[in-house]
This record gives sequence, C-alpha cells and structure tokens, in this order.
Amino acid sequence: MNKRQFFVLACLVIGVIALSRCGNRKAGGADPRGETFAAANTCANCHQAIVASYAATAHAHTSAPASAATVKGSFTSPDNVFHFPNGNEVKMEREDSILYQAAYQNGTLQQKQPFDIAVGSGRKAQTFLSWRNGRYFQLPISYFVPAASWANSPGFPADHPKFDRVIPSTCFGCHSSAVKVKEVQEGMGLKEVFEKREMIAGIDCQRCHGPAAAHVNFHTAHPEEKAAKNIARIDTIPNLRKLDMCALCHSGLKPFQKSPFRFQPGDALAEYLLPTVPFPRKPAEMDVHGNQHQLLVASRCFIQSKTMNCSSCHNPHTTERDLQMFAQRCISCHEQDTHKKTKLSAEARQQDCINCHMPALPSSAITLLANGQTNPTPDSIRTHLIAVYEDAAQSILAKLPRGK
Ligand code: HEC
Ligand code: HEC
Ligand code: HEC
Ligand code: HEC
Ligand code: HEC
Ligand code: HEC
Ligand code: HEC
Repeated sequence: MNKRQFFVLACLVIGVIALSRCGNRKAGGADPRGETFAAANTCANCHQAIVASYAATAHAHTSAPASAATVKGSFTSPDNVFHFPNGNEVKMEREDSILYQAAYQNGTLQQKQPFDIAVGSGRKAQTFLSWRNGRYFQLPISYFVPAASWANSPGFPADHPKFDRVIPSTCFGCHSSAVKVKEVQEGMGLKEVFEKREMIAGIDCQRCHGPAAAHVNFHTAHPEEKAAKNIARIDTIPNLRKLDMCALCHSGLKPFQKSPFRFQPGDALAEYLLPTVPFPRKPAEMDVHGNQHQLLVASRCFIQSKTMNCSSCHNPHTTERDLQMFAQRCISCHEQDTHKKTKLSAEARQQDCINCHMPALPSSAITLLANGQTNPTPDSIRTHLIAVYEDAAQSILAKLPRGK
C-alpha cells in the first residue's frame, strides 16, 4: 500500500466528516503560506512524473540556502580568491559548514560576512545574499559560470569590495516561492525586516498554479475523478493571460504594484506591473536579459499567429537543451520552406534554425568582471525577438555545405 492509499483508507475509517478535516490537516497547515496551500510533497502522490522531472529544472533551483552543496565555485586556494586591481582581495573561506566572503587589504582582514542565500541556479551565474540585523545584503563577489570563475557582482565598484548593497524582497518575488519578511516603520518610510534564511526556496508548483489545498483535498477524497477540480484549468485561460503567467517574472526588472507572490493563473499582469511605456518599445532598446515577454510579443510569429505563447516552445516541467527539438516546434507552424535566397537543405535548416533566427546575444544589463580581466564579460542570452539576423545567418552559412 502506498502513502496515498493508506491516507485514503485512514480517512474512510474515520468517517465522512472527519475526512474533510483529515484532508485539510494533511494538505494545509504544513505550508507556511497558509491553509489554502498544500504541503509541497503532496503533489507527488498523483503527479509523480511531473514532480520528478520538475525537480531538476532551473526554476526549482533558482534560490537555495547557501551551503557547500548549493554554492558553485571553489573554496580552495588558489581558486578561491578574487583580486581587485589595488591590493584588495576577497577570499571565499569555509569554517565548519559556514561559508564566508572575507575582504583583505594588503593581507589585513577588513570585513567578513557569511553566505546565507544563493540566488540563481548556476546555469549562468549565482549571486549571494548575507543576512545582518533583519536585512539581506548582496555579497561583493558572484560566480560566473561561462568563465568558471568568481566575479565582481554586476554593477559593483571595480576597485574595492562593497558589502552594504541592501536587497529588497522583489528579488525573492521572482527567485523563490515565499519569504518571511515584515514591513516596519522607519522614519518617514517603511523598512523590510527579514527572518534569517526563512524562505521557500526555488519556484514551486503552487507558485505557477496557485494555492492547491482544495484541489488536493478533493482528489484525495475522490480518487475516481479524472478531471481537474479546484485548480485553474490552463486550457480555459485566454492566450494573453497564459503569457502573463510567465511574464510576471520574464518581462524585466520593474517595481511591482502588488506582491508577485499573490499572482494566480488567469490574473492580468497589469495588476502587478505597470505596463512598459512607451509600448511596444523598439526591440533594440530592450535588453535580452529577462525581457523574453516583450521581445516575443514584438515578433511577427506572435503578432501574426495570435496563438503563440511560451508553451508553444517550452515545457515548463522539464529542462530542454536540444535545439533541433525546438526547431521541430518552429516547423509545426512553418511547414513550407521559405528560404528562397538562402536555399538551405532540410537538415541544414533544422540544424541551425534557432541559431539563425533566435541567436544568443550579449546582454548589456548583465556583465561580470571575472578574475584577472580588465573588461567585463557580458552574459550571452537567447533573444526572443524571432527575426532574420543577417550576421548570424552569414557566419553559419559560411560553415555550411549549400543544399538545394
Ligand atoms: C489525490 C490526487 C492529486 C493530488 C495529491 C494532486 N493532484 Fe493535481 N490533479 C489530480 C487529477 C486527477 C487531475 C486531472 C488529471 C490531470 O490533469 O492530470 C489533476 C490536475 C492538475 C492540474 C492541471 C490543471 C489543468 O490545467 O488542467 C494541475 C496544475 C495540478 N493538478 C496541480 C497540482 C498540484 C500543484 C498539486 C500539489 C500541491 C496537486 N495537483 C496534487 C489529482 C491530484
Ligand atoms: C516566479 C517567477 C517566474 C515565473 C512565474 C516563471 N519564471 Fe521562468 N525563470 C525564472 C527565473 C528566476 C529563472 C532563472 C532560473 C535560474 O536561476 O537559472 C527562469 C528561467 C527560465 C527558463 C530557462 C531555463 C533553462 O533551463 O535554461 C525558461 C525557459 C523559463 N524560465 C520559462 C518560463 C515559462 C515558460 C514560464 C511560464 C510558464 C516561466 N518561466 C515562469 C522565474 C520565473
Ligand atoms: C513555471 C510555471 C510552472 C511551474 C513551476 C509548474 N507548472 Fe504545471 N503547468 C504550467 C503551464 C504553463 C501548464 C500548461 C502547459 C500547456 O499549456 O501546455 C502546466 C500544466 C500542468 C498540468 C496539466 C498538463 C500536464 O502536463 O499534465 C499539471 C498536472 C501540472 N502542470 C502540474 C504541475 C506540478 C505538479 C508542478 C510542480 C512539480 C508544476 N505543474 C509546476 C506551468 C508551471
Ligand atoms: C522581475 C523578476 C526578477 C527579479 C526582480 C530578479 N530577477 Fe534575477 N532573473 C530573473 C529571470 C527571469 C532570470 C533568467 C532569465 C534571463 O536571464 O533572462 C534571472 C536570472 C538571474 C541570475 C542568473 C541565473 C542563472 O544561473 O542563469 C541571477 C544570479 C539573478 N537573476 C539574480 C537576481 C538577484 C540577486 C535579484 C535581486 C537583486 C534578482 N535576480 C531579481 C528574474 C528576476
Ligand atoms: C504558433 C505558430 C508559430 C511558431 C511556433 C513559430 N512561428 Fe515563425 N511565424 C509565424 C507566423 C504566422 C509568421 C508570419 C507569417 C510568415 O512570415 O510566415 C511567422 C514569421 C516568422 C519569421 C519572419 C520574421 C520577420 O520578422 O520577417 C521568421 C524568421 C520565423 N517566423 C521563424 C520562426 C522560428 C525560427 C520559429 C521557432 C523558434 C518559429 N518561427 C515559430 C508563426 C509561428
Ligand atoms: C518560438 C519558440 C519559443 C517561444 C515561443 C519561447 N521561447 Fe524561450 N527559448 C526558446 C529557445 C529555442 C531557447 C534556447 C534554448 C537553449 O539554448 O537551450 C529559449 C530560451 C529561453 C530562456 C533562457 C534564455 C537564456 O539564454 O538564458 C528563457 C528564460 C526563456 N526561453 C523564456 C521564455 C518565455 C518566458 C517565453 C514566453 C514569453 C518564451 N521563452 C517563449 C524558444 C522559445
Ligand atoms: C543558415 C541560417 C538559417 C537557418 C538555419 C534557417 N533560416 Fe530561416 N532565414 C534565414 C535568412 C537569411 C532568411 C531571409 C532570406 C531568405 O528568405 O532566404 C530566412 C527566412 C526565413 C523565413 C521567412 C522570413 C520572411 O522574410 O518572410 C522564415 C519563416 C524562416 N526563415 C524560418 C525558418 C525556420 C522555421 C528554420 C528552421 C527550421 C529556419 N528558418 C532556418 C536564415 C536561416
């Protein structure tokens, strides 16, 4: 007997009234967001395959309590040091299970702060937050994956380590599922006070699908019911609202009007974020970083198909890296070969479809100064403005045998 069968049986024995309570206790309560949320581990009872593949995604790992297991980058000499130009350096140090960034000037310790939270799955980069007296501060050194090196945090001074950059809860709004924070009056304004390391790390199922305790209770009580109950049915949501589910976090850095943690499928993005003005902006003015939504909706594919959304190409429950598989999704709408000038063979088309029409471009917002470099390296991000890129196409064509 598995856990779910045991649970249903136990409820049946106790009786019908007790059943709803029993369900409630198991589903709600355990989640710090409140009773409408089910305990995270309950989804696996019925959605085992999705839960298993989702656990390996970048979304699931986009934040974590800092530990030797979650922080990428070396803590052993000589790779654990970031050198500033003038004798300043920061060493990544480890004492028992606690990790620190320690700043030295000409060998003398100046300041030392612990890593508390790692932000970023480490696909491309990680930055780190340190908790002090109710606040989170971004640590001066980040980890940059393409250079396999510690790097000066983006936007930080180039000549000395800075330990006093305060991080607001908006960071957690896109990179976690909940964070324990309250607002207290300070002078004329409000100040956020966080509890140390208290959060639901990563983006979980209910962050996208909304609170699901009632859904879990219903289906636990009615295992014979095959249609989803008490949860937003995504296939009934209008296309623009489907896009908004992703745009909440994928339309760039702007202040939220309303807590992003309250977003549920079917909600309109405009309630949470002020629209980008002027809109539509010229694609050239938008950074590839985090602006996937605006870039996609400026593409002819989107404008002329009217049905395109992020799920036209992405399965949000798995990690997908195979560019030829993405090309298949293009071909689902572009059966006809339109390459009158370029004359590509079918294989050549599929091989580089994405690299020609959605090339990875340097971000101007995310640049990191890696160890030993004098110029910052930009992060390279796949543009979502689907178009003809002559330069990208020419450099690929130069390497291809021409088809007919
Ligand atoms: C007791 C079984 C059960 C549990 C536990 C359960 N679900 Fe479901 N869920 C179902 C059934 C049955 C369906 C309908 C068939 C399907 O779509 O897989 C469904 C469908 C869904 C859907 C599809 C909605 C749509 O767009 O059609 C989502 C989303 C979902 N569940 C999320 C969750 C989440 C999140 C959890 C954990 C918090 C969870 N479920 C736990 C039984 C369960
Ligand atoms: C709560 C905020 C949030 C929402 C909602 C969200 N994302 Fe993301 N997404 C992120 C963050 C943060 C990352 C960066 C993850 C990391 O640390 O690598 C990311 C990364 C991704 C990636 C890159 C993954 C990889 O492995 O390369 C894709 C693709 C993506 N998101 C698609 C989507 C789609 C599609 C939706 C809507 C169904 C969506 N996201 C909704 C925050 C969000
Ligand atoms: C980044 C946002 C996001 C996250 C996180 C997410 N989902 Fe989904 N889920 C979606 C979207 C979007 C769809 C609709 C997909 C489509 O239109 O093809 C969906 C569809 C579903 C469905 C119905 C279709 C199917 O594939 O069976 C189920 C069930 C489901 N999700 C369960 C889960 C569970 C369980 C988790 C956590 C392990 C989870 N989802 C995490 C965005 C998300
Ligand atoms: C509006 C949502 C949003 C906010 C707010 C936000 N991010 Fe992100 N962040 C994203 C998305 C989406 C991605 C991945 C997509 C991309 O790079 O275009 C990302 C990527 C990252 C990455 C790289 C992850 C990887 O491995 O690829 C790091 C590190 C990061 N963010 C740190 C932060 C920090 C620190 C803050 C707070 C100061 C922050 N972000 C605020 C949405 C956000
Ligand atoms: C939902 C259907 C759909 C999908 C999926 C789709 N497209 Fe399109 N695309 C269209 C439509 C409709 C147009 C406009 C009519 C045309 O030019 O064929 C278009 C136009 C284009 C154009 C011309 C753009 C311009 O500015 O001149 C290119 C290039 C293109 N698509 C490439 C792609 C690639 C590459 C993919 C996959 C990454 C893709 N499309 C996926 C529907 C789609
Ligand atoms: C026409 C197909 C298509 C659509 C629609 C689409 N994407 Fe993508 N996306 C891709 C491809 C292809 C990649 C590159 C995958 C890779 O390199 O592994 C990608 C990569 C990403 C990445 C990682 C970017 C990076 O370089 O770090 C994010 C984040 C992302 N998509 C988010 C979204 C969001 C959000 C939407 C909806 C607004 C969306 N995508 C719609 C095809 C698409
Ligand atoms: C070697 C680079 C390259 C590859 C690979 C490639 N394309 Fe193109 N594509 C181009 C160029 C350059 C043009 C414009 C010149 C022309 O029509 O030949 C174009 C034109 C197009 C157009 C018509 C745009 C218009 O002007 O209306 C569409 C649609 C398109 N491509 C889709 C695709 C799809 C889908 C794939 C993958 C299955 C693909 N392309 C693979 C370079 C490429």
